Amino acid sequence: MVIIMMILCLFRANNVIHARTPATYQVGGMYGWDTIIPMDSWARGKIFYAGDILEFKYNYLTSNLVVVNRTGYETCIANENAKEYTSGDDRISLPYGLSYYIGTFDANDCSAGLKMAIRAN
Ligand SMILES: *[C@@H]1O[C@H](CO)[C@@H](O)[C@H](O)[C@H]1NC(C)=O
Repeated sequence: MVIIMMILCLFRANNVIHARTPATYQVGGMYGWDTIIPMDSWARGKIFYAGDILEFKYNYLTSNLVVVNRTGYETCIANENAKEYTSGDDRISLPYGLSYYIGTFDANDCSAGLKMAIRAN
């Protein structure tokens, strides 16, 4: 019994050491989700993990956020079944693998840089 308890304790301690608290990122940094800087350049060089939170801040009267697939990202046209966000302050938990985000409120936004591809580890 004691041995089992010790093993359980070791296992738990090990888990605590290796557990990582999900990070929260404000997309675009101080600019937010905006065409001021290309959003892909904001994401470049950062290492994301599944479960991290992306916070998209924008003016909901002039912008939006659409989670698209790769085709939507490449063409700047939201694919069918793409989920649109319009709150102006959306928090999205990153799924594992590749995710694509574009802004489509103004037809030119996405091609002007309001697009982002992220790979979460
Ligand atoms: C994206 O979704 C559209 C519409 O459902 C589909 O036609 C297209 O093949 C998809 N692209 C990818 C890369 O999955």
